[in-house]
Formats: sequence, structure tokens, C-alpha cells
Amino acid sequence: MTGNNGSNGAGKKLRSRAWFDNPENPDMTALYLERYLNFGLSREELQSGKPIIGIAQTGSDLSPCNRHHIVLAERVREGIREAGGIAIEFPVHPIQETGKRPTAGLDRNLAYLGLVEVLYGYPLDGVVLTIGCDKTTPAMLMGAATVNIPAIALSVGPMLNGYFRGERTGSGTIVWKARQMMAKGEIDYPQFIDLVASSAPSTGYCNTMGTATTMNSLAEALGMQLPGSAAIPAPYRDRQEMAYRTGKRIVEMVHEDLKPSDILTRDNFHNAIVVNSAIGGSTNAPIHINAIARHIGVELDIDDWQEEGHKVPLLVNLQPAGEYLGEDYYHAGGVPAVVNELMTQGLIAENAPTVNGKTIGENCRNTPIGDEKVIRRFDNPLKAEAGFLVLRGNLFDNAIMKTSVISQEFRDRYLNDPASPNAFEGKAVVFDGPEDYHHRIDDPALAIDEHTMLFMRGAGPIGYPGAAEVVNMRPPAYLIKKGITSLPCIGDGRQSGTSGSPSILNASPEAAAGGNLAILRTGDRVRIDLNTGAADILIPEEEIARRRQELAANGGYKYPQNQTPWQEIQRGIVDQLGNGAVLKPAVNYQRLAQT
Ligand code: FES
Ligand code: MG
Repeated sequence: MTGNNGSNGAGKKLRSRAWFDNPENPDMTALYLERYLNFGLSREELQSGKPIIGIAQTGSDLSPCNRHHIVLAERVREGIREAGGIAIEFPVHPIQETGKRPTAGLDRNLAYLGLVEVLYGYPLDGVVLTIGCDKTTPAMLMGAATVNIPAIALSVGPMLNGYFRGERTGSGTIVWKARQMMAKGEIDYPQFIDLVASSAPSTGYCNTMGTATTMNSLAEALGMQLPGSAAIPAPYRDRQEMAYRTGKRIVEMVHEDLKPSDILTRDNFHNAIVVNSAIGGSTNAPIHINAIARHIGVELDIDDWQEEGHKVPLLVNLQPAGEYLGEDYYHAGGVPAVVNELMTQGLIAENAPTVNGKTIGENCRNTPIGDEKVIRRFDNPLKAEAGFLVLRGNLFDNAIMKTSVISQEFRDRYLNDPASPNAFEGKAVVFDGPEDYHHRIDDPALAIDEHTMLFMRGAGPIGYPGAAEVVNMRPPAYLIKKGITSLPCIGDGRQSGTSGSPSILNASPEAAAGGNLAILRTGDRVRIDLNTGAADILIPEEEIARRRQELAANGGYKYPQNQTPWQEIQRGIVDQLGNGAVLKPAVNYQRLAQT
């Protein structure tokens, strides 16, 4: 298959040869070589004709969720070496979801750009993408899609389950619960910190079905990871073995010339949408998956999420929609068990290709479910029709709602009007960005009651650069004490995947891009109809036009100034959340390694 002649199995010259072994240009070859020799790689290795494999390292002390990749990379290297390749590890711009100000959402496209430059500009024949924390996964897959050299993803894996007094505590989700307990006066500040910290007992990413578990599961459903890779907890020995096998496989992929464009077909995106519904995946998934599709050049839009995903039931019983956590998900069979269960109903495009050279059907068929409490059978789901609904109306062109987390209490309060069982109406209370919300939510003057809808604007990719995860807002403390633990939240920002809040979010266009959320006022009545997907302010057309004129006369919706150069650059070229929030000019560049 290989032959160390500097070609792949298809007889195509490895791109690294242009740097390291080009007799027609000895000057440059010598220059390229000498510096990579300086830490001990030998000329024998670099001119051997063996594939040079990059390890895109997203782990660092600044990225604790992905930090275990520093350890795993050693096993990846051993796999690469064993299969006849040479490993070159390089750093990726760190992204840590909860630590980055103003929001990690700002950095996905920056890490993407950085990876594109590295993969295009250096002598790499293939790459292992180390993925984990929320934005690291889409950033890596988007970059590999643009450059289109052979690429395989490796999850770092979730943390072990968290426990507090014998009960499971899940990352992020426990924060929302602990906040309510503190608001009710049940725990004090030190107890609050202890309770939240109990959810993070080991290295790895969030152990709930937040954006990290979602995106790692979807990277597998897309065919970009070895089967079974996504769910293995970070500290397990199986994770080390998977790192080794991933390293071996990427060398074979270079010889087979198996590129992202060969794997990321429309069928694979369909599978990602279906799996996302079945796992109860994060509302960040459509943003990231649509972005990957745009960079590889596959047609996919926000409406596909409802058309292909809404009817799919929720099978995976993980917090926040359910009870369990990452270790349980792994023992129950992870993504292959979910895919197999969906295959029994014909919901998966079984011929979709994957990185191991087999189809997803071949990989997952007959995978048993290890625990039917954690991964439910199709005929005994946690919830029917668990996918997203796409809403639109005079408030925005599109926004999504994760129906799997709507509580019964919420349904009773808003949805059980016999005349119109899937419509709800309420009075809007509007906040401009997270600071405004934190400042005013407990202000009695807002007169928030159990029929209020909370609006968050100025939180989209332009308004709060990168789009803040702030749409899930808690009710004021006085309502929580009365037992009202959630109100409908609507906004142009994102929501943490670990939140169980019944929100309508990712509204596009955002207020800062001319959307009508900008003209909404506290006290307006708003009507949402989940049957028709309509979301409207109940004011006359003429009043909408008048308010729009007034807004334009005042110079449009005001948002905070840029704090860094990148905020200004991204604000000028970023697309809306419904379109993946990609950098618009970047979509014009595709398959760079072939050009
Ligand atoms: Fe990094 Fe959740 S904060 S995975
Ligand atoms: Mg998140």
C-alpha cells in the first residue's frame, strides 16, 4: 500500500515532499530541513517519504477541558510511528468555554483561521484534530474542511461523573440548580462553590449533554472519529487506546488519500441532525454543524434541523434533559448504540462514509445497548419529537427552540390553553445584554410574573461579539421562592447546552444586525405558536414601521464598543447564528490543499 517513495497509495506525491525533499530546489529544501532537524529529527526520517502527521493540540493549562490531550498525544504519536508516519505536534489557539471573556464564542472562528493557516502553510500530509471543549470541536472540523487534507478527530472524553452526597452532579447543569438553591436561601456561598465543584472530579470535558458531549458525539456521527470514540471518559484506559488507534489510522488515511470532502457528505450531516435529537443535543449544534457544512460546501440550512430532526425521539437520558452523566453514556454504548437504535427505524443514512473506511451502518450495526435506563429503546423514549423547532415571524427570520427540555410545569402554565394548545402569549420584559439582565432581574419595578416572557437582545455575534450564552435567564428570586423556576426566554444570543431552560434562541437577524428584537419594548405582548412556528410581537404593522424609523434615526441598535482588534475584525465579517456564524469571506476558500 505505501512504499516509502513519498507517494500515497494512489500514487499521489505527499505534499510534505515539496518542503523536505525537492531536488529541483536544494536551497529551499535545505532551509526547510535544517530547522526541523534542530531538535533531533533526522534527515533520514524527514526524507524517508513517510507521511508527516500533524497533531493539532488544543490542550493547555488555559484549556483545562482539553488538557488531557497533552497526555493522549503521546499515545497518538506511538500510533503514528507504528503505522510508519512522523508526528509533528503544534499548538492551537486555546479556547475554554467558561473562562474566556467576553465569550468563547468569539474564538471559534479565530482558532479556525489559525488552523487553516497551519494546515495550509506547513509540511503536513494529514492531521489528528484533538477535540473536546465546546468550540474546539467545530473550530477543528471547520479548519480541516477548508484545507481538506486527510484528518481524523480524537475526543479528549468527558470527566468522570460528579457526585454530591450520593447524587450525580453534572457540569453546568448543577450551576443552574445551585443558583436556585442559593436564591431560596438553602445554601450559602461556600456551599454553592462546593456543590458546583463536585461536578468536576477529573480531567475531561463537561460530563453532561452540554455542547461538548454534543459536538463530540456529532463529530462521530459525522464520521470524523473512529466508532465508539466520543463517549469514552477522559481518564479511562480505553481513551489511551483510542488515541493510539487514531494515530495509526491517520497514517493509513493519508495513504488512502481519504479527505474530509470524501467523508463529510450530505448524508453525514443528516445523521448528525438525527443523532443530535436522539441525544438531546445542545442548541449550539446547529450553529456549528451548519458552519462545518458551509466550509466543506454541503447545502444545509436551519430549516433542515426541524425537517430532519424534530420527529426524532429523545433516547439518551443525560442531564440536563434527563438524569445520567458521561460515564453512564459510555457504559450504555455511546454513539454506536444510539445510531444502531435509530437504524432499526430507518432514520440513519447507513451508507455514510467514516474515517475508518467503513460506512456508519457497518460500524454501528448490532451494537447492544448496555443500560436501557441510560440509552432508551426507540419504543420507550424519554420524549417523543425531541428535535428543534424553527420559529419565525415579525420578531426574527429564524430562531430555534429545544423542545426536549420544556418542563411539565412550563407546559401547564403556557401551553395548555384548550382553545390553542400549542400557543402561548405573554408580556415581554426586555434586557440589553447580560450585564443589564444581571443588574435588573430582581428589580420589583419590572413586575415580572409567571406569565412574563424574558427577552435578551444585543447578545448575537455582532452585538456581544461572538454571541453570548446568556439567553437562559432565571426568574427573579421572589418568583423562584414561589416555585416558578423557569420563564420562557427568547433572544438573539446562545444558550449553554447544559441549561434546561425552555428558550427560543439564536434569533437571526440579531438586534445589532437590524432584526426586530431591536424595536421590542418591555410591556409589549408577544405570541408564540409552536404549531405554526410563528413568533410575533402583537403590535400593528404601522407601529413596527414607526419604531423602525425611529431606531434608524437614532443610529440603529447600540452595542458595546470593541475591546480588542479581533472583536472589530470579526464583527465586520461574521454571519448570523442561523447561518453558522461563519466568517463570510472564509466560505469562498475551499479545498485549499488541492489548489
Ligand atoms: Fe469546556 Fe464544558 S466548559 S467542556
Ligand atoms: Mg457552552
